[in-house]
Amino acid sequence: MSGSPAVAQESDRATGGPAIVRPADRLRGEPGLPGDKSISHRALLMAALADGESLIEAAGDGEDVRTTAAIVGRLGVSVERTAEDGRRVSYRVVSPGVDGLTEADGILDCRNSGTTLRLTAGILAGLPAMHVLDGDASLRRRPVARIIEPLRSMGAVLHARRNDSLPPLTVVGHTPLRAIDVTTVVPSAQVKSAILLAGLRADGRTKVREAIATRDHTERMLRARGVPVTREATAGGGVSWSLEGGGRVQAVVERVPADVSAAAFWLVAGAIHPDAELTLRGVGMNPTRRSIVDLLRRMGARIDEEPGPDPDAEGASAMVGPEAGVGEPVADLIVRSSVLTAIDLTPDEVAAAIDEIPVLCLAATQARGRTIIRGAGELRHKESDRIAGVVAGLTALGGRVTVDGDALTIDGPTVLRGAPTASLDDHRLAMTFAVAGLIASGPSTIDRPACATISYPGFFSELERVRA
Ligand code: S3P
Repeated sequence: MSGSPAVAQESDRATGGPAIVRPADRLRGEPGLPGDKSISHRALLMAALADGESLIEAAGDGEDVRTTAAIVGRLGVSVERTAEDGRRVSYRVVSPGVDGLTEADGILDCRNSGTTLRLTAGILAGLPAMHVLDGDASLRRRPVARIIEPLRSMGAVLHARRNDSLPPLTVVGHTPLRAIDVTTVVPSAQVKSAILLAGLRADGRTKVREAIATRDHTERMLRARGVPVTREATAGGGVSWSLEGGGRVQAVVERVPADVSAAAFWLVAGAIHPDAELTLRGVGMNPTRRSIVDLLRRMGARIDEEPGPDPDAEGASAMVGPEAGVGEPVADLIVRSSVLTAIDLTPDEVAAAIDEIPVLCLAATQARGRTIIRGAGELRHKESDRIAGVVAGLTALGGRVTVDGDALTIDGPTVLRGAPTASLDDHRLAMTFAVAGLIASGPSTIDRPACATISYPGFFSELERVRA
């Protein structure tokens, strides 16, 4: 196996050449991780709602989070960023508070970021102003009816292209909004969050019910900012969240945990490589996000976990300061070479690991037996059609992956061979195929690899570092 470096070109997403990833003899070390993307978006948006100065430390410095920071700046909020290490960044945000936000003087460009578009729409729905949210070619293919309907029923006026289904999206906000009690049609934290953020500006109590629980960062982070949010379990394993309109969001100082969705690439790399030991520090272990760790363990992955301080401990929620985190548990993780066996995933488990399914499919190509992933249809509506993308890429590498409706079936183990793969300009596909390249039998190429910077700037440098 050769030790020559991969070609990593992340500077220009549109025109950069392919990355070449060669098989690695061994994997060792501590890959540096970006701050959690979901939490970073929310921290910036909540800082815009809060009156005064918010400090956000160790936020993710991927392009998506930068996009949200830029949009917050367009609404009359001061946003200063200080780079930490190329993957993480600190923000000092000074806002006049939600009633002082001003109408942007042009289109708000959400670029590649669905979270930016949907969560911002929830905030704009409660502002007396008119905004247009647009994005790149990928974002213009992603569904928005799922937020238009509930936000309209709260009293905002929203329209979108193609019969209100696709961006650009116009939002004419209204104050106050009407509180609603709504059940989400697809399991989506973005939709739930948009409704709850709008609910802050509603008369009365807004309730969102979800049949399948999704990530609860918005709810935890609102609580950490002084807004009471109530959780109730509903029949059949669902959950409902509610809040009273008019709650004031307080400015806080916080530190963002490392992104478990970014850590997932190293967890899989370590588990499937025959000579690996990788350590991942300070990874967010929110129970609604950590399922990739538990799914890999169910497959037999050797992952040790050293938990950090308990954010739910007595007095923890009263802490203000970087040590307070954002009400999110963290842990250090160590992954070692493992012998994997196939598992079955239910639709609930897919929802809980929605961003990790592509790299989990790679793990399944190395697991003994048939892995079946049921209820994966939402993957078609991400930055790319991830079902088509993952099947094409893993098949090119020699994996045995088939699709039947919304179910993916992967038979393993298979010996992967180096091959050209297509990222479809989707960060999670690019990184999945790069990790596959570490164990394939010859060099692999990943076209348009710079899309990794959407969530993980410096990913390809870390890939080189851990093989050294
Ligand atoms: C996110 C929610 C998920 C996820 C996305 C981030 C969030 O999307 O895929 O990467 O931060 O709320 P959906 O809510 O559309 O499932």
